[in-house]
Amino acid sequence: MSFRIQPAAPARPNRCQLFGPGSRTALFEKMATSAADVINLDLEDSVSPNDKDQARANVIQATHEVDWGNKTLSVRINGLDTPFWYRDVVDLLEQAGERLDQIMIPKVGCAADVYAVDALVSAIEAAKGRRKRIAFEVIIESAAGIAHVEEIAAASPRLQAMSLGAADFAASMGMHTTGIGGTQENYYMLRDGRQYWSDPWHWAQAAIVAACRTHGVLPVDGPFGDFSDDDGFRAQALRSATLGMVGKWAIHPKQVALANEVFTPTETAVAEAREILSAMEEAKARGEGATVYKGRLVDIASIKQAEVIVRQAEMIEKI
Ligand code: COA
Ligand code: MG
Repeated sequence: MSFRIQPAAPARPNRCQLFGPGSRTALFEKMATSAADVINLDLEDSVSPNDKDQARANVIQATHEVDWGNKTLSVRINGLDTPFWYRDVVDLLEQAGERLDQIMIPKVGCAADVYAVDALVSAIEAAKGRRKRIAFEVIIESAAGIAHVEEIAAASPRLQAMSLGAADFAASMGMHTTGIGGTQENYYMLRDGRQYWSDPWHWAQAAIVAACRTHGVLPVDGPFGDFSDDDGFRAQALRSATLGMVGKWAIHPKQVALANEVFTPTETAVAEAREILSAMEEAKARGEGATVYKGRLVDIASIKQAEVIVRQAEMIEKI
């Protein structure tokens, strides 16, 4: 047991991050009025190379003109292996409105990737006298990213969230998959001639959650490509929530409600968590560290588990 206290992750809702290409301005107002907690305007892979300059200009204009309400507004820049990223950072930091909250750095492979963007952002913020310090979020979507996940989580005080990008991750790992997240039909255990599904994303997700929780960063599940498959999305999101992730991306507006549903603790879960807390209060008054709730053991660790749910519910109530 370390004597260090685990740092708290930023206390803001991040149940759903809705993406839209920076080249499709017609979507911006719709994104702004959606129920997503975070908006990600994309300059990276949903924008073709010929559209990069126009998309960047669109996004900058949208930071000034669109009413984003109380959402977290984030722009995904291009990867550090492209000729586009520095211009994304320079133009955004020099020209975007103070409404811009965050920059998402894709395909991060080591802590120095984050450091490089931090150095550029810090210089431009100082030069331009920007009042609001831009936050970062990163995507782990390569073998290098997952191998260095812990140093990446610790790379910058600006870092607020870290997502798993299943498609690029699978490609980089050489995985034989084509689906973006979700069940993979060749990943199963066999017993008595029956197939039992396993989860090929589990290890990467758990590694991300551990790195994030160690350094006070929000762990987020990335895209689920088949937006016609609500049950598949829900199953993936439930697994992520169970592992400790706080939210999931939506790559189509119909996925927003699904993500909000899964990552908002149910009334029953919150009521039960509160009952556990009062059962433990009563136990404490009796001088006991453990007691029985609904036929099962609850102890001091149960207080911490219950508090995770109650804190999440209280934060969402404030929106
Ligand atoms: N945000 C907000 N609204 C969106 C939207 C988005 N990302 N994508 C589609 N819509 C709107 C459409 O404009 C349409 O609105 P309408 O009913 O007022 O006409 C409605 O939702 C239904 O859209 P639909 O016709 O089903 O989708 P589409 O063919 O227009 O677009 C995608 C489908 C997948 C191309 C589009 O959703 C998209 O670009 N998603 C984001 C991709 C992305 O950013 N990827 C990078 C991260 S992985
Ligand atoms: Mg990607």
